[in-house]
Formats: sequence, C-alpha cells, structure tokens
Amino acid sequence: MERTTIKNIAEQAGVSITTVSCVLNGREMRISNATKKKVIKIANELDYHPNQLAVGLITKKTNTIGLIIPDISNTFFGELAKGAENRAAELGYNVFLCNTNDSTEKDLDYLRALLDRGVDGVILVPSGRGKDEKSPECFKLLDSCQKSFVILDRTKTGDKYLGISLDHKGGGFIATDYLIKNGHKKIGCITGPLGMLNSYRRYQGYVEALSKAGIKYDDCLVKEGNYHISDGVELAESLFRKKVTAIFACNDLMAFGVFQAARKRGLRIPEDLSIVGFDDITYSEFMEVPLTTIRQPALEMGKCAVEKVVEMINNPDYKRDKIIFEPKLIERNSVKNIGGDTDGSKERA
Ligand code: RIB
Repeated sequence: MERTTIKNIAEQAGVSITTVSCVLNGREMRISNATKKKVIKIANELDYHPNQLAVGLITKKTNTIGLIIPDISNTFFGELAKGAENRAAELGYNVFLCNTNDSTEKDLDYLRALLDRGVDGVILVPSGRGKDEKSPECFKLLDSCQKSFVILDRTKTGDKYLGISLDHKGGGFIATDYLIKNGHKKIGCITGPLGMLNSYRRYQGYVEALSKAGIKYDDCLVKEGNYHISDGVELAESLFRKKVTAIFACNDLMAFGVFQAARKRGLRIPEDLSIVGFDDITYSEFMEVPLTTIRQPALEMGKCAVEKVVEMINNPDYKRDKIIFEPKLIERNSVKNIGGDTDGSKERA
C-alpha cells in the first residue's frame, strides 16, 4: 500500500499542502478549528506518518541514535543496549542497534551506514582486540562527521571523546584481593584480549593486588583469552595443571567456561577450586554454584550514554568529561575461604 503523503491529505481535505503541513507540525497560522480538525481526522484515517528522512532534510534532525556493539550474544551488551533503548524512548529517540561481531571493519561499515541515514548521534563500543585495523578510520570518521558521539565501555587513555566505562583496574583489584582475603595465594588469571585497554586494566588490578599482598607474580598463572566461554574451557586446563586454588576470569562467560572445565575434570566448585568472574551478567546468579563476580552496571551505563549523547545533540559545546562507574563485588557461592581473614563483610549482591 502506497505511503500516505501530505498531498493526499490536502486533496481529500480540499486545502493546500501548506495548510496540512502547518496543522500537522503545529505551526501557528490563521486556520479555522474546523479545518484543523478535518485535516487531523483525514491524516488519522489515512494512517499518515511523516517520512522521517524527509523531515530530517528539513529539520536536520531524525530523533535517532546509532548504537554499535561488538557481541549481541553476550548479555553484558544486551543490558547496555536495553538501558540505552529505554532511556532513548523516554527522550523521544529511536535507537538503531548494530552488532559487529567484534570486527573493526563492521564498526566502520555501520558508522558509515548510520551517518548516511542521518542519525543525530552515535554510541560506539569499539571492536578489536588491539589489532585495530579499521579503528583509526572509525575515529577519523567520527572526528569529521560533526555528529555527537560517545565511546562506551572500551575507552582508550588520552581519548578526547566523551568516554563512559567502569574502573576496570579497580574491578580487577577487588576480585583478586577478595580471593587473597579468602586465603588463596596461587591464583590463576584468564584475561580478556590484552590489546584492549579494559582487559589490560583488569589484569593490572590482578597484578597490583598480588603485589600489595606480597604474593610473587607468576606469569605461568596468567592466560590470555578472548572473552568467550571456549577460552575459559581451554585455558582453565593449563591452570589446573599448575594446581591453582582459584581462578579470576576477566568476564563471566570465561568463568562459565572454567566451570565447565572443572566439571569435566571432577573438580568441585568451590570445594576444589574457587572462581571469580567479571560483568555480573544475567545468568551468573543462576549458575548451579552462583558465581561471585564484579558487577558492571551495564543498564545504567547504557542509559548514561544516551543521556550524554542527547545532551551533546542539544548542546554541541557540552563538556566531554569522562564518566567512570564504580565496580562492585557481588559475593555469591563460588569462592571458598581456605584460611583467609575475610569476615564476609564485603558488600553483598
Ligand atoms: O564480556 C565482554 C567484555 O567486553 C565485558 O567485560 C565488557 O567490558 C566488554 O568490553
């Protein structure tokens, strides 16, 4: 069925296109109430919806925001997107969600596609494992496109952009320190891709906590993963052989992989092996042994990103200060105290 235009409404109402446009856009003109009522009645009967692209050409606004995320199958990003979409709807914006499978090539493709469609702003969680082939081109395009944008979660030091992320180093420290306070000294660490700053920061937190407790750092206990469940499964094996008593997995999906590897080897959690994750995604509390983890307030971070990008849309001179969210230890049942001094006083979920 053909899309209704304001020309169709004008013909049916017996008025000019200008009159229809003024009535539908609430522009003040000397139009009788009877005419206004007739135009609105016909517009509803014909199920008229303005073509947003046409509107955008005139108002230079489409009330849409692009959200580019690396992995929609990871509920951490699902929560980010949900927080963003909920807030965008409250502020009268639609969100175009783009999933890039962690490819910087797709970051660039989607960025171009969103800008071609006239989005008013962009929220980008950059892809890439540190070998960011297309990342420089992405940021060059963002710099040149005169659009408001926010970098979410995977910010980089020295960015001149408005970045929103967690204190990843603080989170890595809290996770490791909690294991140490529970008496663990031989603690394995399965990191995210260390070319990515947020992964490297979590690893730094692990190293700092060991150092603060006077525990000698052993590089053999650190394995670099890719934030997938399979990494946890494969890399845990090599740590079991090192006889670690605990593993800090730098995201919950890899912690799930450690669980799976432990089960295969007949190791009980937490009796034989303690595990701490990172993110606190939806399923972590429902694991057969609820996972102790570090919470990233993903819903709030997504909401905050939309609020900031809309503030920039409305005020291009808006201050681009970085926003850092605090990590929070969510203590559940996957860590055993093997002689530490924790009094269980940690903040509970
Ligand atoms: O789980 C995926 C990880 O990558 C999360 O920790 C998040 O920080 C993202 O960058």
